[in-house]
Amino acid sequence: MIAKPRTGPVPVVPGRTSLPRAQYFRGSLGRFATGVAIVTFDGAKKRHGITVNSFTSVSMDPPLVLVSIARTAKAHDELAGRPFTVNILGAEQRQLATHFAGRPGPEPLWVEGGTAPRLSHVLAYFECKPWAAYDGGDHTLYIGQVVDFNYRNGDALAFANGTFTTIPESLLGMEELL
Ligand SMILES: Cc1cc2nc3c(=O)[nH]c(=O)nc-3n(C[C@H](O)[C@H](O)[C@H](O)COP(=O)(O)O)c2cc1C
Repeated sequence: MIAKPRTGPVPVVPGRTSLPRAQYFRGSLGRFATGVAIVTFDGAKKRHGITVNSFTSVSMDPPLVLVSIARTAKAHDELAGRPFTVNILGAEQRQLATHFAGRPGPEPLWVEGGTAPRLSHVLAYFECKPWAAYDGGDHTLYIGQVVDFNYRNGDALAFANGTFTTIPESLLGMEELL
């Protein structure tokens, strides 16, 4: 008898993995491929940046975006009530992602935005006024109202299963900038 080729997802039954539950949870979350962003803002005494992949759009009218920040992050408390920029990274900006995730490299180039500081040459950015903050367990969900934004063409930086990868511009079908 000829075995039928297997189609569809390989079933993984919760409880039948030898992985600890937290690791299994992380592994499951890692199947969701994301872009990579850096939240930048001026705190009371210093400028902050934190790498995130928890960025999502929330609303078109008003224009709202969300980032989820760990309560343990140094930037967590300072971000409350402050304007911030979400900087979306291009493929060649992997070093920025690690710089703002606890592995400092060369000091990045900053741009003084109209509302909050941002990083130079990012793929896209959203300058935000604070809109709301919600309890998110061991994270806080910070929602910002977008007051300025822009983008450029280029390959995108992506993150999945704990690994950085690249999405070529040719696959993104980006229209020309006006
Ligand atoms: C690709 C990537 C995505 C991350 N996403 C988040 C996130 O969404 N929220 C968060 O709080 N931390 C996230 N982190 C971890 C923070 O960047 C890191 O813990 C933080 O920079 C630590 O800063 P601190 O040592 O100044 O507190 C992410 C890290 C990486 C590399």
